[in-house]
Amino acid sequence: MSEVLESPRPELAQAAQQGPGALAANAGRARVVARDVNVYYGDTHALKGVDIDIFNNEVVAFIGPSGCGKSTFLRCINRMNDVIEGCRVTGEITLDKQDIYSRDIDVVQLRARVGMVFQKPNPFPKSIYDNIAYGPRIHGLGGGKEVLDEIVESSLKRAGLWNEVKDRLKEPGTGLSGGQQQRLCIARAIAVNPEVILMDEPCSALDPIATARIEELIDELRQNFTIVIVTHSMQQAARVSQRTAFFHLGNLVEWGETEEIFTTPRDERTQGYITGRFG
Ligand SMILES: Nc1ncnc2c1ncn2[C@@H]1O[C@H](COP(=O)(O)OP(=O)(O)OP(=O)(O)O)[C@@H](O)[C@H]1O
Ligand SMILES: [Mg+2]
Repeated sequence: MSEVLESPRPELAQAAQQGPGALAANAGRARVVARDVNVYYGDTHALKGVDIDIFNNEVVAFIGPSGCGKSTFLRCINRMNDVIEGCRVTGEITLDKQDIYSRDIDVVQLRARVGMVFQKPNPFPKSIYDNIAYGPRIHGLGGGKEVLDEIVESSLKRAGLWNEVKDRLKEPGTGLSGGQQQRLCIARAIAVNPEVILMDEPCSALDPIATARIEELIDELRQNFTIVIVTHSMQQAARVSQRTAFFHLGNLVEWGETEEIFTTPRDERTQGYITGRFG
């Protein structure tokens, strides 16, 4: 176990340790560690031997051309692939050093620890209040009404939505604008106090203003959570992430500090993608 937790990029951790700033402080503080992760859909080998460390209080961006396996890998981290017929995952993923594929993992609990926000905002057909209260109720975090009210308010505040909805908590979540619905979904994810939040192209259905709002929010949420964001926008990856991972044809080609990946990528496939030669 200790062996598989070694960083596959010791030189990166070392370089980060030497430099100033948050990235240096984070070196070695891996929250999610993936080793030799493979995913098969039937006979299709969709993800090939992925090794990556995902650090605490950072945003990591997953980039790469369509079909390269970004969503597939994201779904490995909260075992959403379990529900896909014919999908098989091998290798090891740990969350805070605990093997998430081990038999004694409660998948419902795991998904509370590793929340997910999707491309298309998907509020439940319930009131704004009940969208947020849903998770805490299921996980028994709610306590009495007062506690639940407090969780709803603080989650909406942290998602930057409180002021816009505080007078209409009983109205349906589906009645909000797209950008508001996405912030509602983020508030719903954080209401159960996750450790990691996975976001699969969370802004692709939003206009530039709503996108900017979500990007700001992601940067704030980094203080308390570990965030993985899949994006097709190089600009977005550069703006919101501290580290970037580039996937291509099911391989994780390289990952590292976002600035390095965008300025001095090691692999010509990365270079080709970020300069727009393919993808
Ligand atoms: N449910 C599924 N059943 C079968 N094959 C799948 C399934 N989901 C994904 N795949 C295949 O796995 C590969 C990776 O797909 P994935 O959705 O992870 O790519 P992606 O990088 O997220 O692409 P995009 O940027 O278009 O969202 C593709 O070849 C895809 O066709
Ligand atoms: Mg995808």
